[in-house]
Amino acid sequence: MGRCIVVIGLQWGDEGKGKAVDLLSRQADAVVRFQGGHNAGHTLVAGNEKFILHLIPSGILHANVKCYLGQGVVVSPDALTSEIQALEERIGYIRDRIFVSHACSLILPSHVCLDNAREKQRNENRIGTTGKGIGPAYEDKYARRNIRIGDLQNWASCRTKLQELLNYHNFLLTSYYHEPACDLEQIEAQLARFAEYVKPMMVDTVSALQAHRSKANQIILEGAQGSLLDIDLGTYPYVTSSHTSIGGAVIGSGLHTRDIDRVLGIVKAYTTRVGNGPFPTEQVNEIGNTMREQGAEIGATTGRDRRCGWLDLVALKRAVTVNGVTDLCLTKLDVLDSFERILVCTGYQASNGSAFDGDWTAEKYEDVQPTYQEMAGWGQPTANLTQRTDLPQNAVKYLRFIENFLDVPIRLVSTGPSRDATVLLEENGFW
Ligand code: GDP
Ligand code: IMO
Ligand code: MG
Repeated sequence: MGRCIVVIGLQWGDEGKGKAVDLLSRQADAVVRFQGGHNAGHTLVAGNEKFILHLIPSGILHANVKCYLGQGVVVSPDALTSEIQALEERIGYIRDRIFVSHACSLILPSHVCLDNAREKQRNENRIGTTGKGIGPAYEDKYARRNIRIGDLQNWASCRTKLQELLNYHNFLLTSYYHEPACDLEQIEAQLARFAEYVKPMMVDTVSALQAHRSKANQIILEGAQGSLLDIDLGTYPYVTSSHTSIGGAVIGSGLHTRDIDRVLGIVKAYTTRVGNGPFPTEQVNEIGNTMREQGAEIGATTGRDRRCGWLDLVALKRAVTVNGVTDLCLTKLDVLDSFERILVCTGYQASNGSAFDGDWTAEKYEDVQPTYQEMAGWGQPTANLTQRTDLPQNAVKYLRFIENFLDVPIRLVSTGPSRDATVLLEENGFW
């Protein structure tokens, strides 16, 4: 029977979703991105080759996998075109297996200008966005004035919509933010070219995915960002502008809740965060520096240093609960190899000594103090291990502790960036 698996990051992004999706794609027929845009950076390492994907689903390296952008994704014409071009230079023609929903909203160059203008105005309270125009594009989508991929096919009415939208953007940019206006003609010309380019890739992804279901195909719904960056469930306002958690998978792909068989949560063995916002277990010290060096924690999209800290089981418990996670994949275990002792956050106290009241708004959440459980390190390398029996005893203890706390089994352990550096804890593979 065909299965449908949702892959979701359970922290603040960069958990290793790309690697996990690439690995599972060996046995998949379709991989679907359902939210976010090219703010994502998903790294795949196959042999000696490294690929960083932003918009293209992480199944693309497998020639028999069809890759979909569901209607929850915001598409920058420039980003999509250049990513496809760069990939085709390396792996050959792929446009015949990339499908884009006609209902995807566009990211225009003026959305990027607005993103940057808003960040500049927030000054030290800035979100630390990726500067890709994500927030403003979703704003226009929810305000029911954005241009969608399907609109491009009726150029006359699309031009009118674009003129109205650009008028509004330029009013905001010049009169409110005192920034330069965007050039309408340039954007028009760019969109006209893109309309032709994207036409053969545009489909009704909802019926295409239902067709995969009825053929009993294996489907992966690939999340971007992480559960704690969800617009509603995350550390607002230090979040992204989409639903990164399970609800986004449904509304952004068009598959329904009963289509979903498993929810695979991706968890890094420690925690990282890019951009601003509260991070209770952050280590701004030698510990954090070691994690950053060992884990090469540099942003795949913006090149910014990632903030690093201990694993936070309280935050993870919340992510597991809101997403209905059925299985876990623990990544970057090898990064902790050199630590003699490892701390795991198992509780929060509010700054006044009382219990944390479950308000994840940044204003409240930034006051929580983590309480830790200390565990012994394993004192030997796990890098690139593939056999469960080769895992050091203390590493197994670490995994068991996480499983018990979260009450979800760990099925996969990742021990290096490469596809092959993976320990499958389930005898018959994952699917
Ligand atoms: P994503 O956004 O969730 O797909 O994750 P990113 O690709 O942004 O960040 C994960 C980084 O860790 C990438 O550089 C991966 O190549 C790397 N990576 C993934 N799994 C492992 C692992 O098990 N060990 C190590 N050392 N690196 C890993
Ligand atoms: P992947 O899919 C980590 C963060 C930004 C910023 C906040 C809002 O690779 O895990 P945005 O540009 O989305 O409006 O920025 O969200 N952010 C990510 N952090 N990984 C990502 O994607 C991210 N995408 C956005 O750093 O804090
Ligand atoms: Mg990433």
